[in-house]
Amino acid sequence: MEMAVTDSSYSTPKWWKEAVVYQIYPASFQCQSGVTSGWGTIKGITSRLDYLKSLGIDVVWSSPILKSPQADMGYDIADYKQIDERYGSLEDVDELIAELKKRDMKLMMDLVVNHTSNEHPWFLESRASRESPKRNWYIWKKPKSIGQDGVPEPPNNWAQILGEANSAWTYDEKTGEFYLSLFTPEQPDLNWENPEVRAAVWEVMHFWMKRGASGFRMDVINLISKEPNYPDADIVLGPGHRYQPGVKYFVNGPKLHDYLREMYREVLSKYDTITVGEMPGVSDEKEILRSVGADSEELRMIFIFDLVDIDKPDVRMALKPWDIKEMKSIITKWQRVMIRDNGWNSVFIENHDNPRSVSRYTDDSDEWREKGAKLLALMQTTLGGTLFVYQGEEIGIRNAPKTWDISEFKDIETINYWKKCEQLYANDKEKLAFGRKIIDMKARDHARTPMQWTAGENAGFCDPGTKPWMRVMDDYQTVNVEAQLKADNQTDLSVWQFWQGALKQRKDHADVFVYGGFQELYPDDQEVFAYVRTSIKGGRWLVVLNFSGRELEWVMPQGLEIESWVSTNYAKGAPDKPKQSGVPLKSWEGILGRCV
Ligand code: GLC
Repeated sequence: MEMAVTDSSYSTPKWWKEAVVYQIYPASFQCQSGVTSGWGTIKGITSRLDYLKSLGIDVVWSSPILKSPQADMGYDIADYKQIDERYGSLEDVDELIAELKKRDMKLMMDLVVNHTSNEHPWFLESRASRESPKRNWYIWKKPKSIGQDGVPEPPNNWAQILGEANSAWTYDEKTGEFYLSLFTPEQPDLNWENPEVRAAVWEVMHFWMKRGASGFRMDVINLISKEPNYPDADIVLGPGHRYQPGVKYFVNGPKLHDYLREMYREVLSKYDTITVGEMPGVSDEKEILRSVGADSEELRMIFIFDLVDIDKPDVRMALKPWDIKEMKSIITKWQRVMIRDNGWNSVFIENHDNPRSVSRYTDDSDEWREKGAKLLALMQTTLGGTLFVYQGEEIGIRNAPKTWDISEFKDIETINYWKKCEQLYANDKEKLAFGRKIIDMKARDHARTPMQWTAGENAGFCDPGTKPWMRVMDDYQTVNVEAQLKADNQTDLSVWQFWQGALKQRKDHADVFVYGGFQELYPDDQEVFAYVRTSIKGGRWLVVLNFSGRELEWVMPQGLEIESWVSTNYAKGAPDKPKQSGVPLKSWEGILGRCV
């Protein structure tokens, strides 16, 4: 059934709906010349704005650049108003904002306020004594009991998210209580029940808006309200696991919407913002629409995790089988829900917490990588919602090679996971190899390798002779920006050139691709994802994506006829294909056409 746009609010034009957002992982984007730390910098970002503009980017979202001990790569903030020295200074951010403005571009900050760093002065004060005026800024609880060995037991059985072998509670010797630290002990959870905490967050948000930011990506924002009784979680992880995922008790908790509405009232309603809430673990339509429905007064949009968690069972570092049909149904579901119920959504398949899309959803071999990356570009640029592109996705960077030594992986989640594997499976080679396979497929590190700018030393990410903080991919001499920008194949486009054209097309036809209706064709097809987008001004476009390495013939449904084919990921310009009935598709081929 066609999901037609009937009410105006879904298709009411807004800059933040049409904008294309580019996510930067600042440690790995661009180191500035002369800097020897091997970390990217803010000045490095500023130096690449013309590059981003020419790709078709409107908004830059950088993962955290604020002062941080970097236990979790900046998602542990020690000062919400200071820039981490590795990245630069406040003046550098002012310059970045000014340079963005000159180019009619905007900056989105990463707002990490479910937790702070354990080195944030708020936490240091909170931890100082049970009587501290800031004690109640974090979540402190007495031990459940004292074990026979005299070791205090945590208040419940929740597992730490970035290391499920550990408790989500950290014991503080000095005051004899535990604090909640859902991600790592270095990331204590703020107590949002406390109005002083909320006021402090609103103040931070005003600070950045006044400084020239245009909005926020909000880190795990659906975790800020916890079930007040802190019940034990159900046992879902097998033997050997002492702690269990407590998600049910803190994902979209009881007061989430109260807090988000207060945030809107106190801060967001006063500016013209772009906001996207990171909301893992929630798939319920009604619940999601409470945040992103046209009249919700909470957030403009959220990141829904159904697609990037397609291979996730109970915990992220694990595998679950999935297929293309399931992928199609997830995408279709959310396209339809937002149109039907006047919500708004983001479109994304990569970020700094997920493996590379070309490796995950297509075939990243030398033979097919470019086709796969362009196929995903064609899909994303023709879906409704605000589009997010992750650094390196525009050149089809793939996952780190399986041959890398485990020491090349720097992420705390991977390190904790591997430690657990080594402990649990010391005498079981097969299980240990499976643990490594999970890292090869899912580690967050895959998205965090340095950006591949050139074929020169360090891929142009940092000066020759400087050691990058994380190893550069081995394939940078063939997969890099410079090569793809100047590629002048007579018949085909590089991945970058394809993205650039596809983004332009999306903007030129926002009435179709951003705001239009959506109808999936052949939902049961196991290989081909095909859909019709209907312009709000009238006129239909057809997208056919072969998500298989097989050549096949796709049958045009009755009543549909192509007026002209527009593009393919196989060649410059329009493909030469039949306009009715049987349409041959090559392996991983995607095509776009205008219907009669
Ligand atoms: C989000 C971030 C991730 C981080 C976590 C804790 O999921 O994207 O990188 O580890 O929150 O802040």
